Amino acid sequence: MIERISLNLHIWRQESPSSQGTFEKYSMSDVSTKLSLLEALDKLNDDLIINGCRPINFDHDCREGICGSCGFLVNGQPHGPKDGTTICQLYLRQFRDNTTLKLEPWRAKAFPIVQDLVVDRSSFDRVIGSGGFCSNYYEKAPEANEIKVSQERSFSAFETATCIGCGACVASCRNASASLFVAAKLAHLGQLPQGQYLRLTRVKQMKEQMILEGFGSCSNNLDCEAACPKEISANWISWMNREKY
Ligand code: FES
Repeated sequence: MIERISLNLHIWRQESPSSQGTFEKYSMSDVSTKLSLLEALDKLNDDLIINGCRPINFDHDCREGICGSCGFLVNGQPHGPKDGTTICQLYLRQFRDNTTLKLEPWRAKAFPIVQDLVVDRSSFDRVIGSGGFCSNYYEKAPEANEIKVSQERSFSAFETATCIGCGACVASCRNASASLFVAAKLAHLGQLPQGQYLRLTRVKQMKEQMILEGFGSCSNNLDCEAACPKEISANWISWMNREKY
C-alpha cells in the first residue's frame, strides 16, 4: 500500500448563499494515506489559515459515519467512490498517487448552499417535524418489554432506522427527490407497534411536506440506493407508495 500521496483538489468555494461560486485548485503533497479525506481538508485548512486565507467550510460532527452531518460530492459521487461509506469514513488509501478530486456541495433546490461545501438541510428537519415521530398516545413511556415485536419485524424496521439523514439520496437523484429518506423514516415507524397510531396521517403529512420543500418526485433510477451510505434499499419507496391514506 502506498503510504504517502499527492492530491490535486478542485474545491467549490462560495462565500455566501447569494454570491457566485467557483472551483479553486489546491495541491497537497506527501499526505499520509492513513488520513481520511476530511482530515486532509483539516490539514489544508491549517495551511490556509497560516497564510491568512479563509478556510474551506464543510460539515462534520461524529466522523464515525453515524450522525449524518457530513456529505459532499467527490468527482460527482455523493460521499465519494466507496460503497456504503460516509465521506467522514473515506480514507486516502482509497486513492492513487497524484489523483485529482473535485469536491462540491450537494446540488438540490431544497438544499441551498450556505458556504463552500456546506448546504442547508433544514428541509429534512421540517419533513420530520411534519410527522416523523411517535405520538404521545401512550401518555407516558411504556415499559420497554411490554410491547412485543417479532425479531423479523424488528430487523426489518432497523434496516430503515439506519438512515442518518445525510441527503446523499437527494444529491444523487436527477429529480432531487427525498423519496428514499421519507420512505425510510415512514417504514421505520410504520413497522413498529409504537408507530401505528397516526400511521397513515404521518404518510400524508410527510409526503406533502416533502413536496412543499421543493423535492422532486422519484426518478425510478435507483441512484439513491447506490448513493446511500447505509445501503438502504429503494424497495422501501415502493413500500411507502403502498401506504394508502
Ligand atoms: S460526520 Fe457524522 S456521519 Fe460523517
